[in-house]
Parts: sequence; C-alpha cells; structure tokens
Amino acid sequence: MKEPDELPTLYWKNNRLYILDQRLLPHHIEYLTCSSYREVVDAICDMAVRGAPAIGIAAAFGMAVAAREALAKRDESILMRSYLEEASEKLLQSRPTAVNLFWALKRINRWLSINDELSPQQIADGLVSEAEKILKEDLENNRKIGINGSVLVPGRASVLTHCNAGALATGGYGTALGIVRAAAAEGKEVHVFVDETRPLLQGARLTAFEMIHEQIPATLITDNCAGYLMKQGRIDLIIVGADRIAGNGDTANKIGTYSLAVMAAYHNIPFYVAAPLSTIDPALLSGHDIIIEERKWEEVTHLKNHHLAPEGINVYNPAFDVTPAGLIKAIITEKGVVYSPNREKLYKLFTKV
Ligand code: MRU
Repeated sequence: MKEPDELPTLYWKNNRLYILDQRLLPHHIEYLTCSSYREVVDAICDMAVRGAPAIGIAAAFGMAVAAREALAKRDESILMRSYLEEASEKLLQSRPTAVNLFWALKRINRWLSINDELSPQQIADGLVSEAEKILKEDLENNRKIGINGSVLVPGRASVLTHCNAGALATGGYGTALGIVRAAAAEGKEVHVFVDETRPLLQGARLTAFEMIHEQIPATLITDNCAGYLMKQGRIDLIIVGADRIAGNGDTANKIGTYSLAVMAAYHNIPFYVAAPLSTIDPALLSGHDIIIEERKWEEVTHLKNHHLAPEGINVYNPAFDVTPAGLIKAIITEKGVVYSPNREKLYKLFTKV
C-alpha cells in the first residue's frame, strides 16, 4: 500500500483539487484536475474516485472548489451562499449508498452556518482548511483502525478481502487493508486472498495494486472461488470495509459481501467489518433502510469497451448488498472493536472519548 504522500487519492494545490483517476489503475497513473464542482460531481458519479471515505473527502473538497468558482465569478454577481447550496445539492446526489458523502457535506454545511459572518474570501479559505481537516482525520482514524484490528490477526494468517478498502478508498492507509498493513508491519505473516470484485474489478485492479506496491503476499481470485477456499480451510479470517452501517450494525458494502458473510458463517470463519465512525449512520434502524445504488447495465455486459454479453439481455446491477449484523463477528473502528454489534454498543461509540 502506498504512503499517503506518495500517491495520494486526492490533494489540493494552487486552488484546484487533484483526483487520482482510479478508472485507469493499475496501468496508468493520472490525476484529474478539478476547477469546477461539477467536475468533482462527475468524478464521484463515474467512480474516478470511489470508496466511502474517499467519496466523502472528495465532496468536502468539491465545496471548496465551488467557493473558488464563486469567488472568481464575483463580478457576475453570483452569490457565494446560493452557489454553495447548489453545489451541495448536486454533490449529495452523486452516489446514494456511502454515508460518508452525506456525513462530510453535513459537516461542511454546519461549518458554513456557524461561520455566516465571514467574507467570501474567508469562506473559500476556510472550506479548504475544513476539507483538509476531514482528510487528515480520516488518515489518523485509519491508522487507529489498523492498530485496533491487527490484534485480531493471528501471527500467521490468510485473510480474504473484497473490493478495495485500502489507501485508495480513503484518505490513506485504508480500513480493511489498513489492518492488513498494520499486522504486516508488526511482523505477522499475512497472506491476502483478493476477490477480483466484479463488475468493476476494484479487487483485481486496486487491491492487487496496493498489495504489490506494499509487497504484502497476495493472491488474486475470481469472486466465485472464495467459497471453495473456505471449504479447503485456507481462509483464517475475512475483513471487508463498509459503505454504510445502520444503527443496528447491518452493513452495506460492495455487492458480494453478503455471500461471503453467509459462507463464512457456514465454515465458522470470523467475518470482520472495518470502518470509521463516519460510515455509521445511527439514524437508520436497520439495513432495510439503506438505499442500494443500481448502476449502468454496461458495467455487466462490457469489460471496458469489449462487449461480452448478447445484445438485448436483461441486467440487474446493484453496486452493494447488506450483511445482517448477526453475521458480523465484530466491527473494527478507530474507537475500538465492537463484538456482536447492535444498536446499544454502536451508540456508545459516539459518546466514547
Ligand atoms: O463502488 P465503490 O468502489 O465505491 O465501493 C467501495 C466499497 O464497497 C468499499 O468496500 C467501501 O467503500 C469501503 S472503503 C474503505
């Protein structure tokens, strides 16, 4: 896994937001330059930036970009406040499932309402600082998740992971992969089985890339192979990230996560979710209330520009599924490990110092 300053998921420089275009990884390293908030919206919708915490951070910087735009257009008498409201609305609509997006924009909007006396220039500068803070805190939280979670990794361990919950999906270091990274740094012999993660192959393209870069032994498998490995006794534990955790612990994550959790229960393999508190949505009673994003059919029928399926076939392409709390051995957060998660235990995390 990369160090955050080595290949940042995104960064702010010279009044612009730079986003690593994850659609091109692992073979091309290219940054998108965003000088309008609409470019940030597009980057999130089209998944140039993806992963719950990274989406939230991008949206926060999107607001800073919008403020710069409004400043530059001041002659045309665009009111910064109304421009920011419009930007916030559009960013909120960019992807529906990862709650970090809503969390980050709520925080930015709270900052705006507290600082309603500031000049447009001060607002523009202040939004950059607030977004930088969100980024920095996410990185710190991931390091804490790594420390808290590595305790659960045996000295020699074979870990299965799904999608990409690494440095690329966050402000750096990663959640699920942050734990792998911390365990490896402690001298544990960790081997990672990487689910390729159809249809967009975040496992094959991004997690595999991070593992190679970090020199952590890893093996890429098709998603269909996971159950067979469990049956063979070759998986000691499963660690995945999360896009939204309902108040009772039900967890939305990349499509396929639920199947892994069911198979893990059958084979008596511990199934862990790693996520910061910004991914927990205490307002939701259960996973039934989580909106599951459905994406374009082309993601299933095509591989890049190559058409795989026959014309006219029906496609169902939900991007996420929900794993019931009962299948999750523990949720690993920056504030500690919550075994057999439920409403009461998760609620306590928010009051813990
Ligand atoms: O559709 P994506 O690539 O944004 O989905 C990402 C995931 O499902 C991740 O596992 C999740 O966001 C956790 S990232 C730390």
